[in-house]
Amino acid sequence: MPKPNQSRDIMDRKIEHLKIPLEYDVQHLKNYFNDIKLIHYPIPDIDFEEIDLTANFFNKKISAPICISAITGGHPVSKEINEILAKAAEQENIIMSVGSQRAGIEDPALLDSFQVTRKVAPNIPIIGNIGLGQVSSQDFELETFGDCIDMIQADIMAIHLNTLHELVQDKGDISSKLFRINFQKIRENYEIPIIAKEVGTGFNQHLAEILDKLGFDGFDVGGTGGTSFAAIESKRNNFNNQRYSRDPAEVFREWGIPTPISVIYVRNVSQKLIIATGGLRTGIDIARSIALGADIGGFAYSFLKSAWKDRKNKSITNTVKEIRTLKHELRSCLWLMNVNSLNNLKGKRDKYVILGDLYRWLHQ
Ligand SMILES: Cc1cc2nc3c(=O)[nH]c(=O)nc-3n(C[C@H](O)[C@H](O)[C@H](O)COP(=O)(O)O)c2cc1C
Repeated sequence: MPKPNQSRDIMDRKIEHLKIPLEYDVQHLKNYFNDIKLIHYPIPDIDFEEIDLTANFFNKKISAPICISAITGGHPVSKEINEILAKAAEQENIIMSVGSQRAGIEDPALLDSFQVTRKVAPNIPIIGNIGLGQVSSQDFELETFGDCIDMIQADIMAIHLNTLHELVQDKGDISSKLFRINFQKIRENYEIPIIAKEVGTGFNQHLAEILDKLGFDGFDVGGTGGTSFAAIESKRNNFNNQRYSRDPAEVFREWGIPTPISVIYVRNVSQKLIIATGGLRTGIDIARSIALGADIGGFAYSFLKSAWKDRKNKSITNTVKEIRTLKHELRSCLWLMNVNSLNNLKGKRDKYVILGDLYRWLHQ
């Protein structure tokens, strides 16, 4: 049953989360991708147009290794944004994700803001999204997971791990003790691929190894370098500001493990699929991620910006243009390295050097 106040709170939060990254600078101060240099090859002997960008994503073929990361759902404006993103993803045959489906579970009036994605994108892979807080709850019901899958006919589910975000937001959920037990029940009852997804604070190696063994089918590393959820919460000016002498959301703004480091950590202990998200801004960043061992590059902030522009023009032009730009940059990058396919770049240590802070982080 919908709980009116709770559902109104979630809706208000959803719209603030959309607007704050567009109106303020809530990006992490350091983007570690700039410390990775790909090796240039002055006389490419491969045909530019024949470079193969296609990839397989859990049995569906996509045109390029690009994922529209989880952004939204649960508000009428979210419905418009999700419709734009899903239409553009379908047209360009890349991966689409919805934001946390909690709002749709708690209030059926908000279901259409998620359902719209499958309605306009019948063919592409769509990733569903449920939170660590929900899965770890004492009241967690197994059917809720199935409801999320059915809501969008999800091909894959992501469980987002957002502990810092929960910690710094008003009424955040900070107990994850039941996570393992509840996840095991999910694993035993659902065959759908499930990935563990961070939201901008990254993965350490130890947890990646545990989650791999626990039965996750892949990772979205969501490291630092891009959108900072703590920075978003500090702009929402929540109750912590009055309770403490310093705003925890501001103090923890830069907390976390950089995206490139997270990719390396996860790849060290798992052969499963990796989506690199957190601070990717160009097709060069996709190539850098793949060279480090990732399979797919994920983007939230870039597509939030393009979809917001499209919403004003009632089109999908900017989002399609952004996807095509990423593909062109990725193809250009491979050509300039004389690499004819993603497989010939993936995890290839001789294709890049690591400098600066990233080097220092790795060689502690
Ligand atoms: C407005 C906004 C809302 C988001 N909501 C979710 C969410 O509901 N679930 C989730 O797993 N990640 C969510 N994220 C995190 C992104 O999927 C991504 O991991 C993070 O923003 C880092 O990528 P970026 O630097 O390209 O923005 C959200 C990000 C933004 C900007």
